[in-house]
Amino acid sequence: MAAHALDRHLALVGFMGAGKTMLGAELAERLGRRFLDLDRTIEADAGASIQQLFAGSGGEADFRARECDALLAAFSDGVPAVIALGGGAVETEPIRRALREHACTLLVEVDVETAWARARVSDRPLAQDQGAFGELFERRRPLYDEVADGRAGDLDGLVLAAAGVLVEAGALERLGELVPGDGGVEIAADAHVAGIYGMEVQLALGARVRGLHELPPGEAAKSVASLERLWRELQLDRQGTLLALGGGTTTDAAGFAAASWLRGIDWVSVPTTLVGQVDAGIGGKTAIDLPAGKNLVGAFHWPVRTVIDPALLETLPGEELANGRAELLKTGLLAGESLWELPLADAVRRCAAFKAAICLRDPLDRGERAQLNLGHTFAHALEAAADFGLPHGRAVALGLLAALRLSGLDPAVVEEQLRPEPVRVDRDRAWAALARDKKAENGVPKLVLLDQSGKPRLGVEVPPDELRAALDELIAG
Ligand SMILES: NC(=O)c1ccc[n+]([C@@H]2O[C@H](COP(=O)([O-])OP(=O)(O)OC[C@H]3O[C@@H](n4cnc5c(N)ncnc54)[C@H](O)[C@@H]3O)[C@@H](O)[C@H]2O)c1
Ligand SMILES: [Zn+2]
Repeated sequence: MAAHALDRHLALVGFMGAGKTMLGAELAERLGRRFLDLDRTIEADAGASIQQLFAGSGGEADFRARECDALLAAFSDGVPAVIALGGGAVETEPIRRALREHACTLLVEVDVETAWARARVSDRPLAQDQGAFGELFERRRPLYDEVADGRAGDLDGLVLAAAGVLVEAGALERLGELVPGDGGVEIAADAHVAGIYGMEVQLALGARVRGLHELPPGEAAKSVASLERLWRELQLDRQGTLLALGGGTTTDAAGFAAASWLRGIDWVSVPTTLVGQVDAGIGGKTAIDLPAGKNLVGAFHWPVRTVIDPALLETLPGEELANGRAELLKTGLLAGESLWELPLADAVRRCAAFKAAICLRDPLDRGERAQLNLGHTFAHALEAAADFGLPHGRAVALGLLAALRLSGLDPAVVEEQLRPEPVRVDRDRAWAALARDKKAENGVPKLVLLDQSGKPRLGVEVPPDELRAALDELIAG
C-alpha cells in the first residue's frame, strides 16, 4: 500500500464517466507532473480508436493486453506522472498487480446515475444499455476498492489523497482503519490534548496501541530534552508507526522522532490545532529547536498519512484559533481566493489541499515552497525581539500587513480579518533579527511579496531604508 504519491506514479482509476481524464489533467497541472491518458496512448500506438480495437479481430482481449503493456511502459518512466486508466483496466489481474507495485492509486468516485448520464452521450462501446451498464458498475466496484489507496470525487480531494491527507469531521473515530500497516503504534501526544482525546484515539486504534508518550504542551515539546525522553521511551520496531497527536509543536517533534528512530519509521500526523491542520501537520517538515534558534535540527520525513478532523478544533482556545486564522489568511492570499470567508471546516480542507500541492511539487523546499513564508520574515524578527513572548499569529498578522504594504497592495483584508496591533519591542533588536533571518543572504533578507493576490514573487530584495520603515510601522511607541 502506498498511502501517498510522493516519489510515486499517481494512477487514477474509476468507472467510465467519473471524469478521470479531465480531473487527471487538472491534477497533473496542480502537482507539476506529466499527464498520461492511457486510452489515448493506446490509440496513438495502435493507430486505431478504442471502438475499432474492440470491434477488431482481437476484440476486447487484444485491447486489454495492449492496455497492460501501455501501463507497464508508463510505469517504467522514473519521473512520477499522473496516469488515468480506462474504466475496465482493473479487470485485468496483471494491471491490478502493477498498480499495487508501482503506483499510488486513487479511485475517482462517481455514482452510477451520474456515470450513465455522462457516458450514454458518448459512443463508448460499454455504454449502450442502461441495465448492462449498471451490472458492469456493480461488478467492477470491488475491483476498484481492491486497488484504491485513496478515493475522492473532486480536485482538492484528489490532491489531498495524493499527499496521504484525509480531511473529515469525525475521522478520529476511524483512526484504526486509517493508520497503514499492521505493526504496533505508539502515540506521542501533547499532554493537554492527550487529556481530551487520548482515550478516544487509543480506543480507535485498538490492539495495535503499544503506548502513549506525553510531550509538554507548546514549544517545550521541541527541545532536545523532550526528544531525548521520547527516544528513551520508544519501543517500536521497524514495522511500527508513531502517531503524533497535537498541534504543530507535537507533529514537528514527533515527526522528527520518527525520522530519526531506527533511521526512520512510519509516522501518522494527527494535527489538532488550526495551525497544524492548515500548515504544520502537512508536508513532512519536522524539527526541534536549539538554544541558538528555532527548527535548527530536523528532517524531511513525509507522514504516511495525515488525518485532519476539523471537529477537534471545537476545544481549541480562542487565542490558538486566532494563530491559525493568520495562517489561513496567508494561504488565501497565496491562493488568490478569500478562503477566510468559508465555514471553518471548508477553509481547512481548501488550505490543506493548497499546502499539500505545493509540498508535493517541492517536497525538499528548494523552490516554490518558500512562498509559504509570506509575512514570516517580519513575524520571526518581531518574535525574536519579543523573546518569543509574542503569539505567532499576532506576529504573522503584522508580517502580512508589511508584506502587502511592500507589495503595493491594499492591506485592508488583514486589518479587517486579523486586527493586528503594533507590538512594543525594541526596534534595533527587531532590525538585527531581520538581517539574521534564515533566508537572508549577506544580511539582506529575501522576502515573499505578492504581484497580486494569488501571484507570489519569491526572493525579493527590498532596499534597507524601505525595509526598516516597513518594520518600524509594526512597532508601537
Ligand atoms: N512543520 C511545518 O511545516 C510547520 C509549519 C508551521 C508551523 N510549524 C510549527 O508549529 C508550531 C506551532 O504549532 P501550534 O500553533 O499548533 O501550537 P502548539 O502545538 O503549541 O499548540 C498550541 C496549544 O494548543 C493546545 N491544543 C492543541 N490542540 C488542542 C485542541 N484540539 N483542543 C484544545 N487545546 C489544544 C496545546 O496544548 C497547546 O497549548 C511551531 O513550533 C512552528 O514552528 C511547523
Ligand atoms: Zn507560521
